Amino acid sequence: MSTPERPADAVQGPLHAPAVAQVREAMRLFDDGAEAFVEASDAVWNVVGQASAAAASPPLDGVVLDACAGAGASALPLARAVGPHGYVDAVDLSPRLTAYGTGAAHDAGLGNVAFHSADILDWAAQHVDSYDRIVCTLGLMFLPDPAAAMTAFADALRPGGRVTVTTWAAGAMQPLTGCLWQARLDLGVPAPPPAPFAASVTATEDPGRLLELATAAGFAQPHVDVYRQSLTVNGEVGWALVTGTVLRGLITDLTETQLGQVRGRLAQGLADSGNRVDGTTLTLRAQRANADRDTHPGAPRRASRRRKRPV
Ligand SMILES: C[S@@+](CC[C@H](N)C(=O)[O-])C[C@H]1O[C@@H](n2cnc3c(N)ncnc32)[C@H](O)[C@@H]1O
Repeated sequence: MSTPERPADAVQGPLHAPAVAQVREAMRLFDDGAEAFVEASDAVWNVVGQASAAAASPPLDGVVLDACAGAGASALPLARAVGPHGYVDAVDLSPRLTAYGTGAAHDAGLGNVAFHSADILDWAAQHVDSYDRIVCTLGLMFLPDPAAAMTAFADALRPGGRVTVTTWAAGAMQPLTGCLWQARLDLGVPAPPPAPFAASVTATEDPGRLLELATAAGFAQPHVDVYRQSLTVNGEVGWALVTGTVLRGLITDLTETQLGQVRGRLAQGLADSGNRVDGTTLTLRAQRANADRDTHPGAPRRASRRRKRPV
């Protein structure tokens, strides 16, 4: 599959102001790596995305937001689940990934899902009281302020609507990330600057922290399930994961020769572990309280900006 061109208006609307640099960095890494990202779909993204969509259990005819939707790993199963009279907005920063998603939806004959290139906090702020379900699969850890994101999700849900957030558990993706770091160390190259996402990753890889985020955002009945699973990741898929995700930030300073060495060591490390990678995820589910004031006591009521459903 060829890489879709990046449209001139890559991200529509104003980027969420407080952390523009982090948002832009996420966009650059995922958008530049879009082709490789999609190569890892069958081994990784579709496995997690389908489980996340199933956990969300959207109602028939429901209106769903897939936040940080990538190329549609959870958005497409969600579109199937809500049926032809339901609807899914699949929102992601990366125009190339959303272009892949649009193509995949078309190929699957799904006319009830639309992919949009936008910052999810901007989108949520413009769609208050709009959704029956919000699903965020492997995205919360890239948002500059996960607590603000959870509040934005609560606001974008209709009263009684539910959120499903899936994240990697601590230790997931090993030994892939460990092999990558070790290969860098063996080359003797200086460590890259810390990823801007580090704090958000820490805040979302622990069940207790996820529950705290949901409670602080005013959600009712928060619950976290741990899904322990191992994924089949050979050297080829492993390299797609490195070049197609934010792990890309760990190789952009390397020469061609060094890249070849790192890739070889990564493939060897994965083969030594039987090409198995820890794919343990956490799935948080919670419900927006029934009345706006229950969710944010004392907060003024906002005007609803419900979208018109497509025909
Ligand atoms: C690991 S991928 C997961 C994609 C998809 N949910 C899946 O499971 O295949 C994380 C996605 O978050 C998106 N993302 C990161 N920051 C974002 C933001 N501020 N707004 C919208 N999408 C964002 C990235 O572009 C990337 O596609």
